Amino acid sequence: MELDDIDTVGVVGAGTMGAGIAQVAAVAGYDVVMQDIERQFVDAGFDRIEESLDRKVASGDLTGDETAAARDRIEGTTTRGDLAPCDLVIEAVVEEMDVKQSVFEDLADVVDEGTVLATNTSTLSITTIASVIDRPERVLGLHFMNPVPVMKGVELVVGEKTSEETVALGHAFAEELGKETWEADDKPGFVTNRILMPWINEGVRAYDEGVAEKADIDRGMTLGTNVPMGPLELADHIGLDVVLDASETLHRELGDRYTPAYLLKRKVDAGDLGKKTGKGFYEYD
Ligand code: CAA
Repeated sequence: MELDDIDTVGVVGAGTMGAGIAQVAAVAGYDVVMQDIERQFVDAGFDRIEESLDRKVASGDLTGDETAAARDRIEGTTTRGDLAPCDLVIEAVVEEMDVKQSVFEDLADVVDEGTVLATNTSTLSITTIASVIDRPERVLGLHFMNPVPVMKGVELVVGEKTSEETVALGHAFAEELGKETWEADDKPGFVTNRILMPWINEGVRAYDEGVAEKADIDRGMTLGTNVPMGPLELADHIGLDVVLDASETLHRELGDRYTPAYLLKRKVDAGDLGKKTGKGFYEYD
């Protein structure tokens, strides 16, 4: 399979990441099939795409005609069999190994043997996900960053069995979407989350231990180290449940230096998950 052989891209999961991936693939000119298990999730995915494309028009990045054409290229479905014509499928469902493996088993039944299968997992093992299907050499990690339509980077994760051809295709495809890539070995958290998650947890602990006010922790890191968001603001942006889940995987796999911050767990238990629930470390309208 080469880049020119890819016409139709499948996306499994129409959440924040899946909808973002479907959007950037459609904007790049691919036909896209976006599948989720319930109609309401597919509809919510289209709402996210609509809102994000509107922003692209407002900022002058795209014209109204371009966004209308991109929207038309995306087909929404609740039927996994509709992914059959896809040349490349990207899975972006919940970060649970058994759910991802069952998606991959379904995909292997539905698509052609040559179809490349990518997972957007942020911390789980590509090799373990791929172990449930035949021809694991066609599986790789394409870890997009949130918000997908804005962030330039895609982390390309190489599993034990991923072939060189699949890796080359992954780079070429991400670049076709206007992204830039780097490669990571299939080790927990890869490059980004292995380093980002302890940074966020340390920010949460610094707040909990009274090192500074929360806004000053974020100001300290943005003004002091030129990152766009401080750890608490970024945690709210990502979602505290997502941060906790990734942190727990790293803790399980790599030991105590990845222990999640106590306050992070308490906030997730309280349902304060960040921007998406209107309250995390900060409050949102
Ligand atoms: N589509 C979707 N969202 C968009 C958008 C678009 N076309 N354009 C802007 N946004 C979002 C931004 O995320 C931000 O969200 P809220 O409305 O919820 O606040 C908002 O719109 C503001 O946009 P602005 O352009 O005004 O904001 P900005 O110029 O300050 O840039 C930003 C926003 C690019 C997100 C910047 O703050 C930034 O780079 N933040 C860091 C993001 C980051 O680190 N992402 C990686 C997270 S880690 C990850 O994704 C890996 C993982 O596995 C957890």
